[in-house]
Amino acid sequence: MNTIYILKKRPFGIPEADIWKRQTEAVPQISDGEVLVKHHYISLDPAIRGWMNEGKSYIEPVNLGDVMRAGTIGIVEASKHAHFKVGDYITGWGGVQNYAVTNGKGWHKIDPSLAPLPMYLGVLGMTGMTAYFGILEVGKISAGDVVLISGAAGAVGSVAGQIAKLKGCTVIGIAGGPDKCRHLIENLGFDAALDYKSDTIVNDLKQACPKGIDVFFDNVGGEILDLALTKLRRHARVIICGAISQYNSKTRIKGPSNYLSLLVNRATMQGMVVFDYADRYQEAAITMAGWIQSGQLKSEETIVDGIDNFHDTFLRLFTGDKQGKLLLKVI
Ligand SMILES: NC(=O)c1ccc[n+]([C@@H]2O[C@H](COP(=O)([O-])OP(=O)(O)OC[C@H]3O[C@@H](n4cnc5c(N)ncnc54)[C@H](OP(=O)(O)O)[C@@H]3O)[C@@H](O)[C@H]2O)c1
Repeated sequence: MNTIYILKKRPFGIPEADIWKRQTEAVPQISDGEVLVKHHYISLDPAIRGWMNEGKSYIEPVNLGDVMRAGTIGIVEASKHAHFKVGDYITGWGGVQNYAVTNGKGWHKIDPSLAPLPMYLGVLGMTGMTAYFGILEVGKISAGDVVLISGAAGAVGSVAGQIAKLKGCTVIGIAGGPDKCRHLIENLGFDAALDYKSDTIVNDLKQACPKGIDVFFDNVGGEILDLALTKLRRHARVIICGAISQYNSKTRIKGPSNYLSLLVNRATMQGMVVFDYADRYQEAAITMAGWIQSGQLKSEETIVDGIDNFHDTFLRLFTGDKQGKLLLKVI
């Protein structure tokens, strides 16, 4: 049987469980040119929250009545497709369900002998690609830069920080709570880590970067972005990757009031969307696989079992109750 999570209504604020219709159906049949994929892992991303909203964005919202969009990895169980064979492991936008039928568009094969499957949704998947292109192409880091990263213990932030470190930067992470901060320094090699939930965050940031920052990789937005803007050095780069602190807001999104720091410091603030780099994913994956092999890059995942845990696990993105990439195992 196929368990499917369908978006039934649009959330307002933190999503409640009643936005989903959980449906169980027979495993679907395929037609010519299609494959049946049995999912092993479903990627849980903050972007899912954005796709639930109506309105213009970098991608169409999920329509009410549709399967919730999510990145997945699975094995081909049946195929009437020229390129994908039974037994191939493939990744694509299969959605929150146990089985997906696809014509193969947007899906590609992965090799489970080269890396564990979860890694293809994390460091070698969309979040790893975001970190790679964000920090290197948008951040234009070079050795000696002071790099500040918010959401630093998350899927994107932890990889971006490690890349900056291996490129010779001084890296300061911002994360929620002392345990995550300790982890960033002791296990991922960050030079400093600051707890944004602490009352001393303003002073802690001042102490951590007395001469300011060259790059700010922002995953969080809101007050953290505003604070970071006060620390820019001349020609600093601010990468707007995400704004998770604002995704469940019931009021207007808070913009930065300290934006004139961009003017004073001749700095730039640039948004990025990972999909713009799709034709270079292969290059990034090969490079990052090399760093993983040489021990310069650590991959971290929090894996939760069972599709029925989808809603509660998804909310852990907003409570921070996880480390690295968050995945649902559904096999
Ligand atoms: N532009 C792109 O193409 C692109 C692609 C992928 C992801 N993104 C964005 O990148 C960001 C990170 O994504 P991810 O997949 O790596 O997620 P993630 O960081 O693995 O998970 C979200 C983390 O955000 C932190 N958080 C939650 N609420 C917060 C708040 N109110 N204030 C501060 N921190 C909060 C939590 O960590 P703590 O315990 O530290 O609070 C949580 O673990 C998101 O904003 C996402 O939308 C953008």
